[in-house]
Amino acid sequence: MVYKSESFRQTKNFAVQMAKEISTTKFRAKGAVVLTLRGNLGSGKTTFTQGFLKGLGIKKKITSPTFVIQKNYKLKAKGYKLAYHIDCYRIKKSQELLILGIKEIFDNPKNIVLIEWPERISGILPKERIRINFKYGKKENERKVVIG
Ligand SMILES: Nc1ncnc2c1ncn2[C@@H]1O[C@H](COP(=O)(O)OP(=O)(O)O)[C@@H](O)[C@H]1O
Ligand SMILES: [Mg+2]
Repeated sequence: MVYKSESFRQTKNFAVQMAKEISTTKFRAKGAVVLTLRGNLGSGKTTFTQGFLKGLGIKKKITSPTFVIQKNYKLKAKGYKLAYHIDCYRIKKSQELLILGIKEIFDNPKNIVLIEWPERISGILPKERIRINFKYGKKENERKVVIG
């Protein structure tokens, strides 16, 4: 599925809707709901995450965890407890995330995990995940959000 966004706002709103759908869908998965967000710098991964967390009911301002690697947010959505926003931009080895306890985060079905730059930790990502790709469009504010 491809969603064409023509503005920052559209990307955000699209993510709000997607979060609402995902958080009300019952998954039979063993672990967390994991969304991997790939795409070049400025393609909209953090913007999407801000919308997504907003759609999960988080009211706090969401800033990029580039320097702290991960931030987490308490959830009120039924069946879920925490949302994690992880930015692997500065990660060189998966080991760095294993130390942070990423395995436990992935194993808990009450977590929703959004990961920017997942290619940096491809070896430890759960196979069952929602893969999202962000691409620049032809026009300045155009982005393509490719799901699956
Ligand atoms: N359609 C769009 N969707 C998302 N962001 C857009 C769009 N058009 C322009 N932008 C701008 O692109 C930038 C996206 O930044 P960000 O979401 O931080 O990207 P990333 O996390 O992928 O590096 C922002 O400055 C935003 O205002
Ligand atoms: Mg980002």
